[in-house]
Amino acid sequence: MSTKRKGEDKSDKERTSGLFSISLAAIAEMARVIKFEEVAKHKERDDCWLAIFGKVYDVTSFLEDHPGGDEVLLAVTEKDATEDFEDVGHSDSAKEMMEKYYIGDLDSTSVPPRKKYKPPQQVAHRPDDSGFAMKIMQFLVPLLILGIAFALRFYGKKED
Ligand code: HEM
Repeated sequence: MSTKRKGEDKSDKERTSGLFSISLAAIAEMARVIKFEEVAKHKERDDCWLAIFGKVYDVTSFLEDHPGGDEVLLAVTEKDATEDFEDVGHSDSAKEMMEKYYIGDLDSTSVPPRKKYKPPQQVAHRPDDSGFAMKIMQFLVPLLILGIAFALRFYGKKED
């Protein structure tokens, strides 16, 4: 036998269904986490996803309207396009516009490390012997000429 009155039963039900709808809303709110591999598959004009600021955007419907053109967007698929986006210096309204195309969060652990640029190895320059000899010659030849000039003058005067 229940001690609850009719009104109390009803409020229990409401509370339960309220909780249920809250949890559904929470699930709906939960961001979809998308792996980089998955993002990289969407690289076509009719199916184009971009990874920017750790979020994933489906910009397929935006390609034609993008003020910077569709080619630039297609060129930054299959990669983290954050830097490309930042380099353009998009306005705040462009950033607000992005929300319309947001479809989930990028799984940061799945992003492959960026390849670092390695400059080609250069052979260390070692001054060789011929270079050294040339430097000495450059110093000695004028001295020699000067010496001969003095000698000629000296002996020339003596003969007079
Ligand atoms: C969802 C993502 C994007 C949105 C909503 C978006 C939106 C916009 C908007 C509204 C503009 C006009 C200028 C401004 O208000 O800043 C613009 C220009 C431009 N965007 Fe994007 N953009 C996105 C992604 C990108 C990416 C990833 C790139 C880089 C490759 C890019 C390259 C450009 C270029 C080159 C311009 C032209 C800038 C100029 O002519 O001054 N955009 N974009």
